[in-house]
Amino acid sequence: KPALRLGIAGLGTVGVGVLQLLRDNAAAITARAGRPIEVVAVSARDRTRDRGVDLAGLRWHDDAAALAGDDGIDVVLELIGGAEGTARTLVESALSRGRDVVTANKALLALHGAHLARIARESGAALLFEASVAGGIPAIKLVREGLAADRLLRVGGILNGTCNYILTTMRDTGRDFDDVLSEAQALGYAEADPSTDVDGWDAAHKLAILAGLAFGQPVAFDGLHVDGIRAIQACDQHFARELGYRIKLLGTARRTGDDAIEAWMRPCFVPKNAPIAHVDGVFNAVVTEGAFSGPMLIEGRGAGAGPTASAVVADVIDLARGTALPVWGVAPKAEIACAPRSALGG
Ligand code: NDP
Ligand code: HSE
Repeated sequence: KPALRLGIAGLGTVGVGVLQLLRDNAAAITARAGRPIEVVAVSARDRTRDRGVDLAGLRWHDDAAALAGDDGIDVVLELIGGAEGTARTLVESALSRGRDVVTANKALLALHGAHLARIARESGAALLFEASVAGGIPAIKLVREGLAADRLLRVGGILNGTCNYILTTMRDTGRDFDDVLSEAQALGYAEADPSTDVDGWDAAHKLAILAGLAFGQPVAFDGLHVDGIRAIQACDQHFARELGYRIKLLGTARRTGDDAIEAWMRPCFVPKNAPIAHVDGVFNAVVTEGAFSGPMLIEGRGAGAGPTASAVVADVIDLARGTALPVWGVAPKAEIACAPRSALGG
């Protein structure tokens, strides 16, 4: 079979991680995909930056959006980030030309997922986004494939590696918030604007994506109740410990009616003996409760180059094999509303 040709937009933590994974594990990936997978073109802002990977022989596009019109590419990997601007233009343009897209961009999907899925459905292109939720945990595959036969009642969990890393490190070392946040940034866990992480938005984006798939309808992101971890202080951690709890940024989405869900993301006191209390550091936990499968918790690394690249390349392998699923099996109903904040008791 001919090689599947990739164009990568964004050569930061995730983009470089994908290049390295494809090179380091090429033989196994080719065998599993049934054909070679080749990166042929790339784009980032700064052409001169040394990224620690060899880019020789790859076509460079100064304008990432031009990847959408590069006929030497079969699949565009959007690894830039952001719900608007170049990332959105590139994904819309690639999908509308019928070109398959793999993205790790949760902000884009949470805010514009229904619109992008419609473009993909109309053009026949695939839109895949395993890396958008919970890093290396196959959360999207779990909800769409593993639990395909079930009726999901609840989804959620610990969905931001940066926040869990900060909360855990502050608790265990007493170091201050800004110091630990800088470390999370240096490790490649945080978003370009880390307030997206610490104010809860990134985790809320992931919750909206999971809930949309779990409940079969896109979620209107505006209604989500979102609190972050910025206000958590050493004394909160101290009292949590004294009382037998741990502090976790948790989210949950639960169906409350035919066209309504309740969804929130906020720091919670969790009993120290609960399994989720022991999901520490950069690890995430994806929690589901199905009418048939019952409760489930899967934990794993939620951020960083290796785990995220693993999820991106799993999507690429699906495309190479011809096993990629549409975002929703059939055109979904209109966006599902979230219960307003007052209905959640504050
Ligand atoms: P980085 O900030 O490390 O990298 C972003 C890359 O995009 C950089 O190479 C940058 O170029 C490039 N870029 C920015 N703007 C443009 C533009 N206008 N045109 C072309 N290239 C551009 O981000 P990450 O790799 O961490 O994240 C990428 C995506 O993956 C985001 O959507 C993020 O939410 C998501 N993600 C990240 C995870 C992580 O652990 N880091 C985990 C899961 C998802 P340059 O290098 O030249 O500045
Ligand atoms: N900034 C995100 C996090 C990256 O810390 O979880 C993974 O989506």
